[in-house]
Amino acid sequence: MTVRPIEVGHETIGLRTGHRYREKSRPFFWPLAGDYPIYDRYLYTVMTADDERAIAYHAAIENIAAGKTVVEIGTGDQAHWARACAKAGAKKVYAIEENLEALKKASALIEEEGLTNKISLLHGTSTRLELPERVNLSVSEIIGEIGSSEGVIAILNDVRQRFLKPEAKCVPQKCDTYCVPFELPDGMENEPIVEKLGASYVRKIFDLADSPFDLRLTLDNCFEEIPRQMLAPPKIVESMDFTKICEESEIQTMSFDVEKEGRFNGLLLWIELYAGERVTPLSSLTRGSNWRPVFCPLFDPGLPLIAGSRIEVRWSRLTSSDGMHPDYHIECTVKSLQNSWESKLRWPHLGGPESFRQNGLYSRLFPRVDAVCDEISLPR
Ligand SMILES: C[S@@+](CC[C@H](N)C(=O)[O-])C[C@H]1O[C@@H](n2cnc3c(N)ncnc32)[C@H](O)[C@@H]1O
Repeated sequence: MTVRPIEVGHETIGLRTGHRYREKSRPFFWPLAGDYPIYDRYLYTVMTADDERAIAYHAAIENIAAGKTVVEIGTGDQAHWARACAKAGAKKVYAIEENLEALKKASALIEEEGLTNKISLLHGTSTRLELPERVNLSVSEIIGEIGSSEGVIAILNDVRQRFLKPEAKCVPQKCDTYCVPFELPDGMENEPIVEKLGASYVRKIFDLADSPFDLRLTLDNCFEEIPRQMLAPPKIVESMDFTKICEESEIQTMSFDVEKEGRFNGLLLWIELYAGERVTPLSSLTRGSNWRPVFCPLFDPGLPLIAGSRIEVRWSRLTSSDGMHPDYHIECTVKSLQNSWESKLRWPHLGGPESFRQNGLYSRLFPRVDAVCDEISLPR
């Protein structure tokens, strides 16, 4: 583990960084890189390598695309779903992508496969483009590790209002985000780390915000442990039905009855994504998924709880100032026989100093450089 100094805006902060990913090494955090316009070859390759996602999307598209006119939002560097639609007999596919480098690669592939008469590539952000006609199928994979975090609600609402015919179908159909009170695996509370490659994306996200902030974190390399670390039965915190307009802002309140003794560090969140009817949902709790579960830190140190304690959560989602990506705000109250505790977390898409080092876990992950210069290059 090392503390890497990183310069952001006018300051230098530390970032606790681990080694490159190896199975059976310790658990680590990774930022939600897909929420930001920083897609590169590595991130596209990770998505392409997710076989279950490919199987579910191909099945959904093969069930529905024949004879349709289609819009695909965010076709990426392989135009996987646009090509699948064309091959499944779609009449015409408009494939939109805002990342120019990715679009150029996709264009070469489409040409190589002789699909240029079926697929029109459009460069830009979908909300700022027009289509020459309304279509009867929308296809996209802009699902975040918190289902809504990549901006899918605002983007697909706009698609439904401006690009789709009234009877149009969609892939995917639905995405639920689950939430459960969670005890961090050993080592993650006291010595949280971001995996080495993930650290380079943390820096890119801070550069976009021009400030460090408490960015959202996925938890990795501990899939077997996750079920043991859950303190209560999970609940759905967000449910998106893409067959109709979804609410952009939402407040959910829910309570959990703790069923076993443990340290309550925060919430674990994961998605179940339904690509189509009669297609098995994809889960970010599955090893090999390109999505990972998300950890939301609330209590530091973790609260020692016994069975019978009650955890109340107020989860709010508000569209951020870019009009597309949500900010989340979480408030939590814990009640046991004698005591009650409260915690809050601002979890913006792009934050600033007011949402930096809000609790002990984030303060340890991003230590003050003056306090840790001796720590740089600590032995593992
Ligand atoms: C999660 S990746 C999926 C890429 C590819 N479709 C796949 O499934 O492998 C999301 C892609 O959508 C693009 N994107 C996100 N929002 C967009 C929008 N509103 N308009 C155009 N492209 C968008 C991103 O640049 C990125 O390439």
